[in-house]
Amino acid sequence: MTTGIRKIEAKEILDSRGVPTISIEVTAGENSKGIFDVPSGASTGAHEALELRDGDPARLNGRGVLKALQNVNEIIAPALLNFDVTDQAGIDKRLLELDGTPNKSKLGANAILGVSVASAKAAAVLKNVPVYMHLRDLADVSPSRKVPYLFMNLINGGLHAHSKLAFQEYLLVPQTESVEEALRIGVQIMHEAGRLIKEKYGPTFTNFGDEGGFAPDIADVKEPLNILFTAAKNLGLQDKIKLSLDVAATSFFKDGKYNFGGRSSNTEELLNLYHEICAQFPMLSMEDPFMEESFEDFARLNDGKVIVIGDDLTVTNPALLKKAIEMKSISGIIIKLNQIGTLTETIETMKMARAANIECVVSHRSGETKDDFIADLAFAYGAFALKSGAPSKTERLVKYNRLLEIVGQQ
Ligand code: PGA
Ligand code: ZN
Repeated sequence: MTTGIRKIEAKEILDSRGVPTISIEVTAGENSKGIFDVPSGASTGAHEALELRDGDPARLNGRGVLKALQNVNEIIAPALLNFDVTDQAGIDKRLLELDGTPNKSKLGANAILGVSVASAKAAAVLKNVPVYMHLRDLADVSPSRKVPYLFMNLINGGLHAHSKLAFQEYLLVPQTESVEEALRIGVQIMHEAGRLIKEKYGPTFTNFGDEGGFAPDIADVKEPLNILFTAAKNLGLQDKIKLSLDVAATSFFKDGKYNFGGRSSNTEELLNLYHEICAQFPMLSMEDPFMEESFEDFARLNDGKVIVIGDDLTVTNPALLKKAIEMKSISGIIIKLNQIGTLTETIETMKMARAANIECVVSHRSGETKDDFIADLAFAYGAFALKSGAPSKTERLVKYNRLLEIVGQQ
């Protein structure tokens, strides 16, 4: 069987916010094709790998990705010609050598990741196995769950909405092994929450944010938790769910203070608020509760009562994860392929996390595409959860639907 890469093609496409992104097609062997559409964040961590943008204000507000495409066509494609597509570690090593910078700023993490994941998908086609099975051939990661929980972001604030709400994501996590039941609970509570918001605040408060959740223009950071929990209670589903928060605290941190809800709070006050929230609501996890450099503050909340998740803190980076493990900052980590830029490094981070008993939450970005690879990634390695927004927009739903499909095949 020939397994050599024959062709790599790059295209500029648009993401769910109408912003350019990169789509890569890798062809290997006889005619095995893998396509990956790269996502893009808005509340990005300072230490993420670099997303290369053209910066030409005359074209798409400088957000074009033609330079990244050029890097794929002129540098990456010739260097990987005839390379064994099933050798993921070899491909990713070659990509890192070609780039040669610590944050992938020469070729762009968007260009590199596109080729990395499209290669894995082409390899699965070549082997005639589902993507998650090919991933299991690549590495052993100690699993956490047979089927990941769904982290559904039903109320959007922060940088994902045009509202007064400072906390970024209010997530519903159905407590069931069944993806079908989890989705059913998710949409029921979403519709009931929408009814409650409309009744109390009016219909414009049910407009959607970037990840398909409601974006009500309210400043009280506890009110969305109230709405979701009341919706669950109204449907008799309160014992079937837990709630999670992605505070994304860096986005409202300035000059040593957290500025939200018309107030300026210090770390102590924010910590007290989190303790209050945990006492009042059935909280499963809290993501990025403090700004992205504050490993010690994370550790203060990480007392075993709620899963404390690092996202901007750790940016899927093994070195930052190592620091977070040493400082006991987290008990969960967000896994985002484009924060680090290759599949192999992403798997390495997942492996390291699980070896330290840290839960992996495989996540989409706020700027998404039709790609469903993260569902295979979450399932392949028995991740704790799959986080893909609200079940209301196609670019979010394709990931949940792919998980449903995978589970149906077992
Ligand atoms: P982002 O948001 O994709 O805009 O970074 C997602 C998150 O913070 O989890
Ligand atoms: Zn986050």
